[in-house]
Amino acid sequence: MLNINPRLERYIFDDLGAVYQINPEHVAQNLSNDEEDNLNYLGTYFPRSFVESYSIFLNLFENEHINREFSKKQVINILDIGSGTGGNLVGLLQVLNSTYKRKRIEIYSFDGNGIALDYQMKIICNIYEYLDRNENIVKIDTFQYRFTNKDDIKNILDMARHSGVFDSFDIILSFKFANELYAVDDFKNRGTFKALLNIGEHYLADEGIMVIEDITNKVGIIAPQYISVIMNNECREYFNEKTDSRIGFILPLSCAFWHDNCDSDNCFSKKEFIIRHRYNYRDVSKVTYKVFATAELAERILSDINNCSRYYYTISEDNRSGRFNYCLCGSFLYGQEYPINTPVIDSFIL
Ligand SMILES: C[S@@+](CC[C@H](N)C(=O)[O-])C[C@H]1O[C@@H](n2cnc3c(N)ncnc32)[C@H](O)[C@@H]1O
Repeated sequence: MLNINPRLERYIFDDLGAVYQINPEHVAQNLSNDEEDNLNYLGTYFPRSFVESYSIFLNLFENEHINREFSKKQVINILDIGSGTGGNLVGLLQVLNSTYKRKRIEIYSFDGNGIALDYQMKIICNIYEYLDRNENIVKIDTFQYRFTNKDDIKNILDMARHSGVFDSFDIILSFKFANELYAVDDFKNRGTFKALLNIGEHYLADEGIMVIEDITNKVGIIAPQYISVIMNNECREYFNEKTDSRIGFILPLSCAFWHDNCDSDNCFSKKEFIIRHRYNYRDVSKVTYKVFATAELAERILSDINNCSRYYYTISEDNRSGRFNYCLCGSFLYGQEYPINTPVIDSFIL
């Protein structure tokens, strides 16, 4: 259980007026959020994204290979797609700031909601009033742009790159964004996760990392499907089609080791985070994510991790039955008892 940074908590609730109010229907679409909706998002879902991102990046930057490569970089360029009020950016910045010194951190933050971007800017300026800067210099550029469909994302980035706004990124992240395109039109936007991977392919700098995180809920009207399953299938398809990809999986470990052998089109992965703040001492957030790195870095990271085709890699837990879903050498094992005599690995931890 991770508390949200207490000064951040005071700032969003006391100074900005954030409101804690769970509304599962509302959370599906945040692009048109007005002032009130943004304050609800800020009090309810921002703390979750902050904690999830903080935990994910803490684990990544504790890895000696990632840490060593980022130590060498003088500038860390970050692209956030669907950044909203900035919860995942703030989580990442807190990790970067405590891990590195004297870096120039440049953030390119894209979202269609201008009110959310204004809050994001305020929150990032505010955290640097108390967070030790560690002599890092942070610069943030926000881009208010509504992507008309999944292909529009890369088109917009290409236009910005051609006009010299940026070149490549050391970290690309997109948290809980793709599900919103699916919620608008799941037919037209089928392939959004592949489109995000293609952005990683073209925009990730050498020795860079990319995190795609999303909710696990079902989307779609005609044939509803879990986002976890959609994400998994699209990632597998992407790497099957693009065998010469310059990026590779690092998490979940089961995907990193066995995606070539993956024989399931209904793999459901989920990671739970528990968040504690003044309005909820045990807020449970259920998400799924995949992490990628440029191929050589991915290879070095994985070469240090012991993998074995007999190990069970936990990819989700069914809270009602207490049973688990595992990956065993690329095969999806649904609803199993916890194995007594076989090593079990958390697939989401490096
Ligand atoms: C659930 S929020 C996630 C925000 C942030 N990444 C987080 O984890 O807290 C999804 C964000 O995607 C943005 N979004 C959704 N559809 C979009 C589109 N077509 N173009 C640009 N932004 C979009 C919304 O405005 C919203 O801020």
